[in-house]
Amino acid sequence: MRSFILGIIVTVVVALVAGIVIAQFGLMPTNADATPPAFETRIAANALDASMERHAPRVTNPVPATDQTLMEGMQIYSMNCAVCHGTLDYKPSLLEHSMYPPPPQIILEPLDDPEWHLYYAIRTGVRYTGMPAWNKALGDQDIWKVTAFLSRLEKLPPAVQEKWKKVYGTSPESHQGEEHEHHGGHEHHD
Ligand code: HEC
Repeated sequence: MRSFILGIIVTVVVALVAGIVIAQFGLMPTNADATPPAFETRIAANALDASMERHAPRVTNPVPATDQTLMEGMQIYSMNCAVCHGTLDYKPSLLEHSMYPPPPQIILEPLDDPEWHLYYAIRTGVRYTGMPAWNKALGDQDIWKVTAFLSRLEKLPPAVQEKWKKVYGTSPESHQGEEHEHHGGHEHHD
């Protein structure tokens, strides 16, 4: 039994040292313009979900989802988030293929996570990705407003859709049914 445990410890230490040596010799890629392999994406997504399950408080949105607050959420999104997650004119982000992992295109493919999950992700960010922790940059009310907006992307009240259309020339309602050329925009070839 003792030598079995010792064997495990030695294996773990050897693997760790090998990892450090590989990194020190510059063998780890640092370029962000690559696509993560499917297994890596799956493991990372599961780890993120599991960690949020464990850490994120199940809070309800204290900001009432009025036309006014949803419009403010839309503006906060447009000013801070659209550069990575896609603009409100339904174009994928210019940075869609420039980050590792790539930023999800939230406007083109709305998320279906509960508000406490979105709020936690937005507030605390996602480590080892480009997702910033917005609690250092936005007030709590503003984080809740953008959370409310994102969780209602497919069921926004008419006044908010109207405003969206006025500012960006299209809206979720007029966009519905349109061809979803998600990767058509800036397909990139190396
Ligand atoms: C610099 C680029 C960048 C900006 C700006 C940015 N994000 Fe992100 N965001 C990311 C990336 C990359 C991910 C993917 C993280 C991952 O793969 O787990 C992400 C993930 C997310 C997620 C999903 C987390 C999950 O559970 O899957 C939400 C929600 C989100 N961002 C909301 C926002 C909001 C709201 C803003 C603006 C206040 C914002 N992001 C600004 C890059 C960005």
